[in-house]
Amino acid sequence: MLSVHNLDVRYGQFRAVQGVSIEITQGDIVSLIGANGAGKSTFLKAIAGALPIYSGRVSFKDQDITDTSSSTRVQQGLSLVPEGRRLFSEMTVEENLLLGKTVQRQGDWDIERIFTTFPNLVKRRHSKTGSLSGGEQQATAIGRALMANPELLILDEVSLGLSPLVVDQVYASIESLRDAGTTILLVEQDLERAITFSQRAICMLEGRIVLDKLTADTHRDEITQAYFGLNKATQQEAS
Ligand SMILES: Nc1ncnc2c1ncn2[C@@H]1O[C@H](COP(=O)(O)OP(=O)(O)O)[C@@H](O)[C@H]1O
Ligand SMILES: [Mg+2]
Repeated sequence: MLSVHNLDVRYGQFRAVQGVSIEITQGDIVSLIGANGAGKSTFLKAIAGALPIYSGRVSFKDQDITDTSSSTRVQQGLSLVPEGRRLFSEMTVEENLLLGKTVQRQGDWDIERIFTTFPNLVKRRHSKTGSLSGGEQQATAIGRALMANPELLILDEVSLGLSPLVVDQVYASIESLRDAGTTILLVEQDLERAITFSQRAICMLEGRIVLDKLTADTHRDEITQAYFGLNKATQQEAS
């Protein structure tokens, strides 16, 4: 479904993402892990069209999207919930959700289904998002992405700053998306949660992928070590 080949993304001279290649198949739940500054958000933004690609190719559903705009990608079914939510704080929950609908795509999601999925938002429907709790803001941000009926939903650190209970709620809702067949690529700082929730973990370190493994128990130690930069491949690269 998503195919990334040899991707480079730069900030000026700085190569934040270097030679990254991944394949994601429809129905996959993939977690992208890695320390702060590893290049995860940069990578996701480049896939979503929010940052220019320096070199390499990205294709989605067998179409090359490397040079297309983010709205074209949303139109094709690829949506990103960015780090930090990026809501319009002076607009209401409902208004923010409706912004997600500016791109017309066939599908089951509409505003009422968002409120069914995130019942906590119902009483906040007409509140400005700036006045919401972190969990309510995150639900709004996810809901806004869902309004475009994505086939691939990319989530960047959705649990950041939320209480454990609210994180559980957010993940329960992501789980229902997964069960409905949405392909999901997510960044999660909580390594244990990432491994438990996904079927596959991709680990980035200093702009490169250092591990891409199924999250089967047999790979747990390897995944943990890659996260902390301790696996063999990394040591070889560093020496
Ligand atoms: N707008 C920017 N301008 C310059 N450097 C940036 C910018 N955004 C991120 N970086 C740098 O790129 C690297 C990767 O950042 P980022 O993709 O945010 O990592 P992660 O999401 O894994 O924490 C870091 O070294 C960061 O300082
Ligand atoms: Mg990030």
